Amino acid sequence: MSNTIEVLNNAGQQELAARLESLSGDARKALERDILSQDWEELKALYAEKSSASLEDNVSADLKPMPFKIAVDDLRYDFWKETGEILLGKGQVAAFLVAGGQGSRLGFDGPKGMFDIGLPSHKSLFQLQAERLQNLATQVGNPIPWCIMTSPLNHEATVNFFTEHNFFGYARENIRFFEQGTICALSPEGKAIVDNDRLALVPDGNGGCFRALAQSGTLAWLIEKGVRYVFLYSVDNALCRICDPAFIGALASEGRSMSASKVVHKAGPNEKVGIFALQNGKPGVVEYSDLPENYRDMTNADGSLTFDGGNIAIHLFKIEGLRKLQTSKLPWHTARKTVCGIEKCWKFEQFLFDAFPQLGTMMPFGVIREEEFSPVKNADGNDSPKTARTMIGKLHREWLRKAHVKFDESKLYEISPTISYAGEGLKQSLFDRELGRNILAFDEE
Ligand code: UTP
Repeated sequence: MSNTIEVLNNAGQQELAARLESLSGDARKALERDILSQDWEELKALYAEKSSASLEDNVSADLKPMPFKIAVDDLRYDFWKETGEILLGKGQVAAFLVAGGQGSRLGFDGPKGMFDIGLPSHKSLFQLQAERLQNLATQVGNPIPWCIMTSPLNHEATVNFFTEHNFFGYARENIRFFEQGTICALSPEGKAIVDNDRLALVPDGNGGCFRALAQSGTLAWLIEKGVRYVFLYSVDNALCRICDPAFIGALASEGRSMSASKVVHKAGPNEKVGIFALQNGKPGVVEYSDLPENYRDMTNADGSLTFDGGNIAIHLFKIEGLRKLQTSKLPWHTARKTVCGIEKCWKFEQFLFDAFPQLGTMMPFGVIREEEFSPVKNADGNDSPKTARTMIGKLHREWLRKAHVKFDESKLYEISPTISYAGEGLKQSLFDRELGRNILAFDEE
């Protein structure tokens, strides 16, 4: 205990030390556990660094666009797809879902993956993902290990939801849940915030995933299974083609890179997505809020945006890359937010895309937005459940059209991932049999 007090005093947290000493019994034990989970020297240094920086300059002067091509137009696409299917069939690929976020913009009270985006089936995001992954696993003839990162704030609710739904038919032994780390929010003066005798701990950002993967033993679990490629994705992209074989095959056969990332053409200069760029020659992502206006609006001779490669948070890592990242230090980003009623508190988080400059190489893989990207971020308006429903309905209707199926053109369709992973296997007899069961028609809103 005296050591804890000394650590706090040295870190300028005398008030917290005094609070701890004023407690006894279980309350004292609980607060001490919170305190011991934190690196106080690092917090002190972080506060000193961030509070003295006049304006965060996250963009280097040497910023160049990162060229990319739409993969499906490449003659090697079918070869990549077959290669990926072979690797999946050999059990060399795993899925990694980062689901530790708080989803505050959506305003849903619970883990975002439990959210029902209002499709006719009323399946949750978790269920849609589980079914899609299971369909692919069945097609390639091998289970796909699925790592699910939660945070201490939503771990129990996530695991309970999966348990209540019998893991949506996914074999329990192929799923591994683990928690990401947390970091203490600080007051405007740099003091630890205490709420009901507990520290105000918040998830340490999706960049905490590399540390958490290793510390939870999940990286070792994957290595033990012979996994060589890990497909990392966010919980809220309703169109994510999880473990897309072509993406895997492309990195495996073409890439000397440690990782690959899916890229879309930006919808316009003001779209709120980060962009892929080369900073001092190294691949990375610049957040939309950090991109200076002159770069944001810059155009090429043909009028297209120069910094056009939108990050949709779908990445593929070679296992060697993840090994390297388990110990590398990613930078901390800050946000000033209200915490426990105190305005302008300091919240720190790490972003997973800061891994790319550390790895030094990254292979961009261009995809078509309408086929692969529909994030559910806000309750209404852009990137909302409504836009996701419409995009799914239109995409699945397109799948039917490509399969020469006759259907009611005035409707949108939801095709269950249990019967098609990405539009394959659809035909008239299946449509006639499944309409009203695994294929549901609905109206555009
Ligand atoms: P977002 O940046 O959209 O953050 O996360 P969020 O917390 O989900 O939502 P808002 O900003 O509060 O509305 C992108 C992905 O990163 C995960 C999220 O769960 C989502 O899949 N994430 C985010 C984590 O796993 N951990 C974190 O600490 C933050």
